[in-house]
Amino acid sequence: IIEPKTPLYNLLADAALWYQQALKEHPKRQLAIDYLKGRGLSGAIARDFALGFAPPGWDHLIQALGTDNDQQRLMLDAGLILENAETGRRYDRFRDRIVFPIRDQRGRVIAFGGRVLGDDKPKYLNSPESPVFHKGHELYGLYEARRFNRDLTEIMVVEGYMDVIALAQQGLRNAVAVLGTATTGKHIQCLFRTVPNILFCFDGDAAGREAAWRALEAALPHLEDGRRVRFLFLPEGEDPDSLVRQEGVEVFLARIQQQAQTLVEYCFKKLAEDVDLSLPEDRARYQKLLTPLIEQVPGPYLQELMRQRLTELTGLSAPSKSDISGSTSAPAP
Ligand code: CTP
Ligand code: MN
Ligand code: MN
Ligand code: MN
Ligand code: MN
Repeated sequence: IIEPKTPLYNLLADAALWYQQALKEHPKRQLAIDYLKGRGLSGAIARDFALGFAPPGWDHLIQALGTDNDQQRLMLDAGLILENAETGRRYDRFRDRIVFPIRDQRGRVIAFGGRVLGDDKPKYLNSPESPVFHKGHELYGLYEARRFNRDLTEIMVVEGYMDVIALAQQGLRNAVAVLGTATTGKHIQCLFRTVPNILFCFDGDAAGREAAWRALEAALPHLEDGRRVRFLFLPEGEDPDSLVRQEGVEVFLARIQQQAQTLVEYCFKKLAEDVDLSLPEDRARYQKLLTPLIEQVPGPYLQELMRQRLTELTGLSAPSKSDISGSTSAPAP
């Protein structure tokens, strides 16, 4: 039996090689090289992440790989090319962009991201969902991180391609990115199959803080005893890439050590933001917000410790499960 996805994987591998080759020898590659250098990246890191270049023009990839109609159909399925609905004309999806191959855990190329070389919009393009690419499952950089270090104990989760690569450039080889989607339970399960500790480090902006709370919600049901989830919040306007290049790796590591909060700290603090614990009404509200979150924690010891902490803050002893009704609605972060 031939695995039906094999031709797709082969095509994606060929495309990755073609883009990579273009970064090395296409006549128009210089702007791409300059762009990557301008962002502090070395040739060695570009190779580790198999970065490539989609040259400007409408049909470079079709010309190179779309040898017949079957092959072009496959390119459509893979999201490498698009078809004009009226004219039927087919053209390359990625044009005049830095190309980031997204690999699955086995190292197979399953999709691409593409970044413009300047400030044009859209800044990033991604492959669409395909038979081999499901956004909510994949973590950019996980294959590379594991290949670099088989004995990882903590993985850092960041927002973007460039964050993963900039951190790797500075020697921090344990970052993965969720690629513009929210962190899902699938992501968390996948991470906990690899390491016991996760550190979320999203951009220092409203979207990043929102993403952190959603990551907390996704992580809660997977908090077995022995696992640890932490959050590092960055200064306004910074992301891991900008910050690590600005302050250097030593300061960045010290920042993690001093400022990262555990999930429990973050959770209790966040929900206390608009609560005055000297008021019975607010203590009741706090109890009501936290209890359903605590209940989701599967680790019996951690769950009990969270209950104790809540009791210390509200004076209410933990209600038994049957007493709890109603749902939680977390405030907007
Ligand atoms: N993203 C996307 N489409 C966009 C903007 C962002 O898919 N139009 C995804 C990309 O995966 C990107 C991530 O969300 O890497 C984070 O977005 P942003 O913070 O804007 O990207 P950076 O990686 O910081 O971009 P830059 O190259 O400018 O540093
Ligand atoms: Mn998958
Ligand atoms: Mn952002
Ligand atoms: Mn950035
Ligand atoms: Mn960013």
